[in-house]
Amino acid sequence: MSAVRSNSASSCPVLTTFQKECATPSKFLRNVADAIAEDMRAGLAVEGGGDLKMLLTYVDDLPSGVQLGGMKERVIATKSETISIPQELKTGTSEELFGFIASKLANFVANENIPVRFRLEQGRKREIGFAFSFPVNQTSIDSGTVINWCKGFTVSGMDGKNVVACLNEAMEAHGLDMRVSALVNDTVGTLAGARYWDEDVMMGVIIGTGTNACYVDQENAIPKLQSISSSGTTIINTEWAGFSKILPRTIFDQEMDEASVNRGEHLYEKMISGMHLGEIGRRVLLQMCESSHLFGQSVPVKLSIPFSLSTMNLCKMQEDKTDDLLIVGSILNKVLEVEANLEARMSVSQVCDTIVKRGGRLAGAGIVAILEKIEKDTKRLSSGQRTVVAMDGGLYENHPLFRQYMQDAVFELLDDTFASLIAFEHTKDVSGIGAALLAATNSIY
Ligand code: GLC
Repeated sequence: MSAVRSNSASSCPVLTTFQKECATPSKFLRNVADAIAEDMRAGLAVEGGGDLKMLLTYVDDLPSGVQLGGMKERVIATKSETISIPQELKTGTSEELFGFIASKLANFVANENIPVRFRLEQGRKREIGFAFSFPVNQTSIDSGTVINWCKGFTVSGMDGKNVVACLNEAMEAHGLDMRVSALVNDTVGTLAGARYWDEDVMMGVIIGTGTNACYVDQENAIPKLQSISSSGTTIINTEWAGFSKILPRTIFDQEMDEASVNRGEHLYEKMISGMHLGEIGRRVLLQMCESSHLFGQSVPVKLSIPFSLSTMNLCKMQEDKTDDLLIVGSILNKVLEVEANLEARMSVSQVCDTIVKRGGRLAGAGIVAILEKIEKDTKRLSSGQRTVVAMDGGLYENHPLFRQYMQDAVFELLDDTFASLIAFEHTKDVSGIGAALLAATNSIY
């Protein structure tokens, strides 16, 4: 038997209680899915009706059929660069944040080599799609105001301000001849980008720093919608992060939430996403050190520093399949500067697994709630139609066991006859392409 599977480590009372409180058996998970479905209904009925905001996105026409790259290629070329937002800008002013984005965009454009045939005629602005990973109250495809900040951001000076205007103004100040013609949530960009290649994509899900999902809904199933478009369908951004009912919250979740910049908000996200799993683990390990001397008499100094255990390291420890949990040992050594014996490593491994499993399974329940809503309105699965969930985000991408727990939960809850028709596709970084395609669809020229 491998060390990971042994139960001897769970003799620590903190660990035993934690495992018990985090359990998500099928029956409980079914209740979570039903409660999410109930909040979806409430949010679609009236603005603010439920925990899930169910935001209108003004994306009624999904790009398909157009082959930007000619008959063979759908997209000719993409060029990308990843730039992290500096910590101080996350809590700075809107001018600083959008000024930073515009300056990086200006550098990117300056190094671009656009073939002559793609250059724009004089006086025409280049149109861009803006994939924005925060909840926005949209009034059209190219305007909207931030509802609340999350994931460690609290940018000032944005109250009531149009996000698109903020970026347009910053771009102008940086001498960029560009305008935003589509403002889309990152999940919407993912769905739109994935749909361009595969018409069966009905959902876009992000499991990264934060988590969220959007899906294609039938407009006649949305009571709060004022007018029906010609397509009869529209994308709804669920903002499922806000779900808060019947969650298996422990004291560690509560204390982490208390210390966060968006206290009381995004509780579902705080149990699933990359920004939070490592921090929950740190808090559990700290308590185990203080009450059960996990690593001997002293408490590692590093363990008292918030966010010192990253979700990546937590997942790596959870994935350690070596009999002696050598990877767990080396991460503990490197990150927390402790020497952990085998028993301690086994306990740590169980803490990590409990957190990853709960997160993956809760995300699975959310996916089921949405798939069942789509099925209720379209009967696509009952009529044998394949249905694809486009997935992206670092946690989903890099951690196969998280993915496994999530998918197992989906298939555990869904009707068996539907399982073979559901496909999860990892559509890496397509949200930018999706946003660009929607910008082209909504071009003013
Ligand atoms: C947060 C945001 C949401 C975004 C998600 C993933 O939950 O509220 O808009 O889609 O993170 O980035």
